[in-house]
Amino acid sequence: MKISRFDISSRILHWSHALVFFWLLVTGIALFLTPKSLLGDPFIKMVHLYASLPFVIVPLIIYLRGGISTRNDIRELMGWTRDDINWFMGLLKKNKTDVKGKFNGGQKANFLLVLLLISGFVFTGFVVWMKSMFTRGFVELNFIIHDSLAILSILLLSGHIILALHYIESMKSIIYGESDAVWAEEHYPDWFLKEKRNPVNR
Ligand code: HEM
Ligand code: HEM
Repeated sequence: MKISRFDISSRILHWSHALVFFWLLVTGIALFLTPKSLLGDPFIKMVHLYASLPFVIVPLIIYLRGGISTRNDIRELMGWTRDDINWFMGLLKKNKTDVKGKFNGGQKANFLLVLLLISGFVFTGFVVWMKSMFTRGFVELNFIIHDSLAILSILLLSGHIILALHYIESMKSIIYGESDAVWAEEHYPDWFLKEKRNPVNR
């Protein structure tokens, strides 16, 4: 038996954002490695900059215009409770603590870090784009921060992908929308019962 975990708008939000993120990462690395005098540089810079618009605007549009389940997911990811702290404590003590909602503390932390990284990229990206508005030292500092954020996001994403490959039912749910009901009950018991009684994703 299957249970629905992510509706179509949540999946489109996740994968469109992931796609633009990879585009920004590849073009960012190309900018970092390309000597500024090469002809290709302004072109890569332009495609990097243009991708920053959908990077921010597309998730916002999907959040506002997408399904109710997507908004519920985001609200839950932003809502920290004592249970999430207990979940982290359990992790430190190597005790398995039941997850009370749809997401565990680690997933909420991942979401928070992604939001912080996006804000950092937008701010530092703006400063290095509008170089002439700022002092040379400030621009250089923002280049360093922009690059450091790229390194941090590669580390975070590597962990995210490793966990997704490990929890393959979770991976199926972000691709096809559904996961195995037995797996869902074991990992997210409270959410499973709630979803069974009153399905949000149809
Ligand atoms: C709102 C999003 C973003 C904006 C507005 C933005 C903007 C920029 C700008 C204007 C540059 C400088 C181009 C130049 O003058 O050479 C740049 C460089 C770069 N960006 Fe972004 N960017 C964004 C997101 C990202 C993301 C998500 C990544 C990687 C995950 C990234 C990685 C890089 C790297 C590695 C460089 C090269 C910096 C260097 O040469 O030291 N950027 N970005
Ligand atoms: C190949 C790349 C990726 C894979 C395989 C992947 C996999 C997944 C999976 C399986 C989930 C669902 C977890 C659940 O069952 O609740 C998820 C959720 C999520 N993903 Fe990704 N993802 C990828 C790329 C990205 C990127 C690039 C970002 C952000 C820039 C991102 C941000 C998130 C966030 C914020 C969530 C919700 C919170 C969480 O579950 O950690 N993902 N991802």
